Amino acid sequence: MFGTDWNNKPLSELTARIVIAHHGRFRVELPALQGAAREVYACHRQRDFARLAPLPGLLFRLGDELERHMRREELTIFPAITALERAAEREEPVVGNRCAGSLISATLSEHDDILDLLAEARQMTGNYEPPPNADQPYRVLLHRFEALDRDLNLHIVLENDSIFSRALSLARRR
Ligand SMILES: [Fe+2]
Ligand SMILES: [Fe+2]
Repeated sequence: MFGTDWNNKPLSELTARIVIAHHGRFRVELPALQGAAREVYACHRQRDFARLAPLPGLLFRLGDELERHMRREELTIFPAITALERAAEREEPVVGNRCAGSLISATLSEHDDILDLLAEARQMTGNYEPPPNADQPYRVLLHRFEALDRDLNLHIVLENDSIFSRALSLARRR
């Protein structure tokens, strides 16, 4: 889906792709993982309490933080970026470009918070490596969590490098 032309596409197209492909997938995957983590914990807490006990809580924190973040992007940041791009295309000054710039900077720091939670997840799960006695649901949980971690990292790289950096240049335009 994301070819080498990612940096040459209009920002409005990229943000629409992000919402459909990435945000849509996270909204399905997070609740599924939260449910799976609760079930695996209920089955295995006697044998692997230290590793499993904090996982459901971490997934709920990640889900809450991510949902707030995605809603802010969809309702505020991405429309502001589209407005910046339209104004630049028409060579018009943008009203509120400073405000858009500071919104984007705040969003970059939310990305860091999400990356910190993922680092916590890797540390908590031993890099998603199942213990030798793990059954299939336990292995699937860690495998899906690892895939989510990878997707979230890719999503943040795409937003930071291909959308927000370009939008910040537009916001600083005179
Ligand atoms: Fe996003
Ligand atoms: Fe984001």
